[in-house]
Amino acid sequence: MELSEKINALKERKNAVILAHYYQRPEIQQAADYVGDSLELSVKAAATDADIIVFCGVHFMAETAKIVNPDKKVLLPEPNAGCSLADSCSGQDFMDFIAAHPDHVVVTYINASAAVKAVSDYVCTSSNAVKVVNSIPKDRPIIFAPDKNLGRYVMAKTNRKLLLWDGSCIVHEAFSADRIIALHKKYPKAEFIAHPEAEPHILKIATFIGSTSQLLAYVKKNPKGTFIVGTEAGILNKMAEAAPEATLLPAPTMASNDCSCSECAFMKMNTLEKLYQCLKDEMPEIHVDPALARKALEPVSRMMQLS
Ligand code: 13P
Ligand code: SF4
Repeated sequence: MELSEKINALKERKNAVILAHYYQRPEIQQAADYVGDSLELSVKAAATDADIIVFCGVHFMAETAKIVNPDKKVLLPEPNAGCSLADSCSGQDFMDFIAAHPDHVVVTYINASAAVKAVSDYVCTSSNAVKVVNSIPKDRPIIFAPDKNLGRYVMAKTNRKLLLWDGSCIVHEAFSADRIIALHKKYPKAEFIAHPEAEPHILKIATFIGSTSQLLAYVKKNPKGTFIVGTEAGILNKMAEAAPEATLLPAPTMASNDCSCSECAFMKMNTLEKLYQCLKDEMPEIHVDPALARKALEPVSRMMQLS
């Protein structure tokens, strides 16, 4: 039996659902029941009636699935699949930061640990960060964490000043504006589209900015177009599936070798073999302290109501 067939058989037998982020390896996206961005996957996780959720993504994503589903078993094929952004903000440091600014409303990007979410007023994703900030009365000062690049983007879109945590994503900070411009000279009809985790000077040259799902939807609207894509290269799989006639070019990075695409090493830690093993052994399992999970659920639920 092929590995993918074994995964399917186990999934049926155990009433499991496989959720995968767009940045996962193509064969994992193929094996998944749902592929989506962080917001869509959290919503799917909250709505599922499966007994087991296998989350093919990174730790904070699987942890969010557990927060919205405390009674279900949540598995992450590779337990070390972390996130540079989530790691930039520890629960204790964040509590100290909030304590120094007690009058602020706290908006936290979903790329954060359960401990950080638990001390936040709202969680947001890149799909709804602008909406979440706009829902807060204009006279209230706001802390936005942990991604300073998304924070700056939200500031520009909402025309509000946000107090930013100094965190960023190693993948989205790797793009090279010079190399993107050089590539654009080779493909003058190409549109450069980017994720808001990219740095301001990169976003400045983009014609469209959006979450992974929004970037995918943008490509679908012009299925014969040419796009230089400024986010993790895994999304190109779904774009190519949805728009087979589009020309899709991963945005070049500053890497000195010839690697022209940006890959999240954490996301790519999950493999089909690990997915199979994890379904078979029902581990590694994600655990969140129940009291912490209850606190973290409040800002996540507020986000979901707004979405
Ligand atoms: P999305 O919200 O677009 O899925 O982004 C998740 C992420 O980790 C981007 O680096
Ligand atoms: Fe974290 Fe960046 Fe990887 Fe997304 S791409 S999971 S933000 S390190």
